[in-house]
Amino acid sequence: MFIETTVQASQGGAPALEARNICKNFGGIKALDDVSFQLNKGEILGIVGDNGAGKSTLIKSVTGAYRKSSGDVLLNGNSVEIENTRKARELGIETVYQASGLVEVMDAPSNLFLGREKIQSGWLGQAFGFINRRKMRSETVDLLKTVNIKVRNLSAPIRNLSGGQQQSVAVGRAAYWQGEIIILDEPANNIGVDQQRAVLALIERIRETHGVSFIMISHNMDHIFKVADRVIIMRGGRKVGDLRIEDTTREEVVGLITGASLA
Ligand SMILES: Nc1ncnc2c1ncn2[C@@H]1O[C@H](COP(=O)(O)OP(=O)(O)OP(=O)(O)O)[C@@H](O)[C@H]1O
Ligand SMILES: [Mg+2]
Repeated sequence: MFIETTVQASQGGAPALEARNICKNFGGIKALDDVSFQLNKGEILGIVGDNGAGKSTLIKSVTGAYRKSSGDVLLNGNSVEIENTRKARELGIETVYQASGLVEVMDAPSNLFLGREKIQSGWLGQAFGFINRRKMRSETVDLLKTVNIKVRNLSAPIRNLSGGQQQSVAVGRAAYWQGEIIILDEPANNIGVDQQRAVLALIERIRETHGVSFIMISHNMDHIFKVADRVIIMRGGRKVGDLRIEDTTREEVVGLITGASLA
């Protein structure tokens, strides 16, 4: 009790991210109906729900990948306009999508710096480009070490890495770029059990070391109950539950997902 109060006080009050009354229509279809949620600082927030419940749409509408129909987004208590994903990144929000967001034919350093490299022209620029390339490689080696990935050949295309390793690179990249908020849409989808564990361990570690707040969309109750502090449940475009993990059970969460009535 005492410890909890202290932690909350040190977090400085306002949530890292707050979404208020988010609505999103696709033509006549209401994909999101008045969804509000908060992500506290240093928190791992799970989002669950059946296929088509609106989980990805919620994240995309909050981070500027989709233009929301209405609603507000606040960061650290301040209202922000996030027109596109680039703006989200500038504001410290990194999103790792269902497809990991890596480009398979590029090598790991290129992927780490994807969209951030400074392209320089002229001989001087090329000389700097070369130096940057070396720096990119050395930083990539550090990153891969941090996320426990052994890559024999840094110049090899990233598709030579396993799915789980690619996910780790994606999460590591988000942390590298000092995302204050990292959002993962099905981070452990379609990868082996050991690698799922590695990605979850990485999430927990980055939360500890960097104080990053996470949103993790997942269908896997084991993952949610293993790492999340809180879970919100989506059904039919609405938020139907918002529960602290320690106050709930899988049965309750699954009941809310499926709409089985709860007393
Ligand atoms: N670009 C789009 N255009 C039209 N409808 C869309 C679009 N994106 C999502 N939808 C619709 O919005 C609803 C919510 O979809 P969303 O992808 O957010 O679900 P989800 O909860 O992420 O599901 P899953 O677990 O399968 O990833 C669905 O009915 C879907 O068909
Ligand atoms: Mg989805």
